[in-house]
Amino acid sequence: MLPKVLEEAVYGVYATTALHLADKHGVFGLLATQGAPTDKIAAELGLDEETLDRLLLLLDSFGVIERDERGAYRLPAEMVPFLDPRSARSVGGFLNHVMNSTLARLPQLDGYLTAGKSAVDAALPAPFDVMYRTPKLTEEFLAAMWELTYDVSRELVPRCGLDGVGHLVDIGGASGPFCVAALEATPGLRATVFELPEVGPYVADTVEKYGLQGRLDFAAGDFHRDEFPPTECVAFGYILSGWTDETGLELLRKAHRACADGGRVLIMDRLFDDDRRGPLPTAVMNLSMHVEAKGRHRTAAEYTGLLESAGFTDCQVHRSTQDKQLVIGFKR
Ligand SMILES: C[S@@+](CC[C@H](N)C(=O)[O-])C[C@H]1O[C@@H](n2cnc3c(N)ncnc32)[C@H](O)[C@@H]1O
Repeated sequence: MLPKVLEEAVYGVYATTALHLADKHGVFGLLATQGAPTDKIAAELGLDEETLDRLLLLLDSFGVIERDERGAYRLPAEMVPFLDPRSARSVGGFLNHVMNSTLARLPQLDGYLTAGKSAVDAALPAPFDVMYRTPKLTEEFLAAMWELTYDVSRELVPRCGLDGVGHLVDIGGASGPFCVAALEATPGLRATVFELPEVGPYVADTVEKYGLQGRLDFAAGDFHRDEFPPTECVAFGYILSGWTDETGLELLRKAHRACADGGRVLIMDRLFDDDRRGPLPTAVMNLSMHVEAKGRHRTAAEYTGLLESAGFTDCQVHRSTQDKQLVIGFKR
């Protein structure tokens, strides 16, 4: 028998696969509302019973679902917020991204170890050329970003100090999860998503869906090439972790130029603990960033250092109960 920690690490790849398939085929959606045995789930969802049975046995062994004495599976209450696809905190979109995108890239690590990242990446397309290659991939990626960002943004927005701020620009703001959370909580605020042109139609959908006409708009641009629109507040959510310190500093200097005096920059990202021994999700995504982008995750002190080098002062660190944290810098 393997030690428990090693057992979960070794067999995690099977659990990720089973979680993804159960989410994709509606099993968690069904189990969030009712307990049911395998044959009934299979019949209701039109799935092969034997395959489903093996997946459910595995998820039960991992403790993700549970089975009662009559053989009915159900979702434990503590899993519902994360596995019910109707929940704002569902991990379904993230699992989809891991299985359909990240997993295909992880084998690159072998080449990175022996030939180095730049040599291997030189032969590969740029990450967002792949991510936005088809409408389906674009939708899946943006849905995963919404899941990762909207709920935690509602927790972070009150700590961003947006009262009295008239306008913010969210750099690489995807289809607008942070902007929507900020606008919902801050009457009088306007927001602009600055993004690659491919994302424009999805921001337009968000404006429509949330009734944000006149408050949320879109600026097409490339954050490497273009200056940012002038504003009182520049937000970077899961952006700087995608880039090297050198590029991060360039982006923060652009933010400083775009910010009005008295303005602020918001870095919303995962943080490593000061000793860089965790937390686990940050260590996982730090590896993921290596194959999906050119970045890495940082400690709060590393972000503060970058902010100060770009001219921001009086930096503050605010922590949420979730994976995304907030570092603020001011332009005095
Ligand atoms: C990891 S996602 C973060 C999305 C969002 N800010 C969040 O916190 O969920 C990175 C975003 O940066 C955008 N992006 C990537 N390269 C860009 C570029 N050169 N210029 C503008 N946006 C870019 C992508 O389209 C994507 O939506």
